[in-house]
Amino acid sequence: MCGIIGCTGRETETLDVLLHGLDTLEYRGYDSAGVALANGTVEVCKREGEIDRLRAAVDPAMDGPVGIGHTRWSTHGPPTDENAHPHTDCTGDVAVVHNGIIENYDELKAELTAAGHEFESDTDTEVVPHLVEDALADGLSRDEAFRSAVARIEGSYALAAVFAGSEAILATREGSPLVVGVGDDAAYLASDVPAFLEYTDRVVYLDDGEFARLESGSWTVTDAEGRLLEKSISQVEWDAEETAKSGYDHYMLKEIHEQPRALRKCLRGRVDELTGTVDVEALEGLTAESVQFVACGTSYHAALYGAQRLQAAGVPAQAFLASEYATAPAPVSEGTLVVGVTQSGETADTLAALRRAQARGVETLAMTNVVGSTAARDCDRTLLIRAGPEIGVAATKTFSSQVVACNLLSATLADRGDSREIVQALRDLPGQIQEVLDSSRAEAVAERFVDSDGYFFIGRGHQHPVALEGALKMKEITYKHAEGFPAGELKHGPLALVTARTPVFAIVTGTDEEATKTVGNVKEVEARDAPVVAVTDGASTVDRYADAVLELPETEPCVAPVLANVQLQLVAYHVANKLGRSIDKPRNLAKSVTVE
Ligand code: G6P
Repeated sequence: MCGIIGCTGRETETLDVLLHGLDTLEYRGYDSAGVALANGTVEVCKREGEIDRLRAAVDPAMDGPVGIGHTRWSTHGPPTDENAHPHTDCTGDVAVVHNGIIENYDELKAELTAAGHEFESDTDTEVVPHLVEDALADGLSRDEAFRSAVARIEGSYALAAVFAGSEAILATREGSPLVVGVGDDAAYLASDVPAFLEYTDRVVYLDDGEFARLESGSWTVTDAEGRLLEKSISQVEWDAEETAKSGYDHYMLKEIHEQPRALRKCLRGRVDELTGTVDVEALEGLTAESVQFVACGTSYHAALYGAQRLQAAGVPAQAFLASEYATAPAPVSEGTLVVGVTQSGETADTLAALRRAQARGVETLAMTNVVGSTAARDCDRTLLIRAGPEIGVAATKTFSSQVVACNLLSATLADRGDSREIVQALRDLPGQIQEVLDSSRAEAVAERFVDSDGYFFIGRGHQHPVALEGALKMKEITYKHAEGFPAGELKHGPLALVTARTPVFAIVTGTDEEATKTVGNVKEVEARDAPVVAVTDGASTVDRYADAVLELPETEPCVAPVLANVQLQLVAYHVANKLGRSIDKPRNLAKSVTVE
C-alpha cells in the first residue's frame, strides 16, 4: 500500500534521502511515486510507474532543506502522473502526501470547487492542500491551518505536508501508521521504520489524533488543539543490514534463509530446555477460557495452526478470517481472549476485527512482528514474533515465527506438564530448517513441474494450514492456479480438476492415523495420473506413490509443519523464478493492506 517518507535537516541531501526512502518502501506495493521539496517555493516531481521513472524525471538540482515523498497504491483514480502524490493547492505553496482514504472527499471537493479551487487529480487527497490553502488565506498560521484542514476530513489517514518558505514538515495520523525518526541534526517521518533506518534507529510512534512538527533536528507532538504532548523515544532493534538484499537475488529467498535465525530470536529467553517450561514475559499471568484468532492471508494460516495447538492443549479455540469477523463476530464470553495475528500490525481487516472484539469488552493480544504497530498499541498485550524486517511481499519467515509464537501461547495457556518434548523440538527447529535449506531438492521439483496447469496441496491436521499456505505462496508469486485442501476433502469435489498436468503436493509426516489416511488420498490422486510430490519425513509409505520427494527431518508432529512449509516456500520461489516473475513485488499485491 502507499508509503510516506519525509526529512528535514539534511540540507542538500534531502532529495537523496527521499528517493532512498521510496526505494525502501517499494515492497509495500505501489503504482506511482513522487517527491516535493520546499525552499522559497515548493517543487514537485511525480510519475506513474516505478521509482526509477521518477528518478529519471527528477531534476537533480531540485533542492531544499525539507521534503516529502510518497509511493501510491491507487484507490481513487487510476495510476497516472496527475494522481500520484504529492498534491498541491492552487498557489502551489502547500504539498501533501497521504496514505489511507478520505471518506467525505466528495462533498469537500464540491464545496472547494464551488469556491473556485481548481483540482488536477481524481484523488481524495487533493482536498487537503486546498483546505489548508483556505485556512491560510483566513489568516491562520501553517500549524493551525493544517490542523483545521484535518479537522474537516473523515476517514483513515496518515498525512504529511510541506510549505513554501518553511523548513518544517507537519504530519498527523488517524488509523494509518506514521513514525518520526529522530536524528542528531535531522528529523525523519515515515509510514514504516525501514524507510529511514539507515539514518536513525531512534523513533517516536505517533498515535491516532496526534500532530507532529519536524524541523531540522527538532520535533514536537501535539494534540488536535495544539497542546504539547510528552512522547518517548524508542530504540528500534532492527538494523539497516536486515533490510538489505545481502547478495541474494530476491528478498524472499533471503528471508527464507533467515528462518533459522528468526526462530532462534523468537525463542530466546522464552523457553527453558532443561525444565521444558515456557516463560514469556508478555504473557505473564495470562489466562483464557477460550481463544479466537483473527487474521488474514498467511497470518490466517498461522492462526489456523494456533487454534489447533490450543485445542490440543484443551483450550477451545477457533481461527477467523478477520474481514469476516469484523462484520460478523463469533460469540464471546468473559474469559475469551481474541488474538490478532498480523505480521505488520497494520492490516486494516485485522485491526477492525480486534476493535470489534474490544468493543465487546474482551481481552486482546497482538501477535505481531512490528514494535509500535497499531495492533501492538491497540491491544491489551503484545507477543512479538521477533522475525526481523520482512520486505518480500509474500510472507515467509514471519509465518514460521508466528507458528512458533503460537506454541509459546498454547504452552502458556495450557499449563500442562508435557511441553518438554515440544520445547526440545522447537529448540531443534532452527538447525533442522538449516538442514532443509542445505539439502532441498525444491529447485529440481520446480524445474520439473514449472509448466503445469495448476498445483494442489493436501495435508491433514497440522499439515492442513501448510497445504493452504503452500498454495497461497504459489499463487502469490507464480500467478499460477494453486489450491490447498484438507487431504480428505480432495475427493469431495476438487478431484475433478486433478489431471496429469496438475501435480499434487502431499504433506505427510509420521505414521499415525492422519498419515495413513493421507496416503490413501495420495493413492486416489495417483490413480488419476496426477504427479505426486511427497513432502515427508519418510516415516510412512507415501514415497512409494510419489513421483518426487521433498525430504524432512524427523521431529514432533506439531513442529513438522514449519519444515514442510520451508520446502513449499522454496518450490514456489523457484517456480516463480523460472517463470521470471516479480517475486518480491507480485502484481496487484501489497505487503500491508491498510484498507478494509
Ligand atoms: C496482505 C499480504 C499477505 C499477508 C496479509 C496479512 O494481504 O499480501 O502476504 O499475509 O496481508 O498481513 P499481516 O501483516 O496482517 O500479517
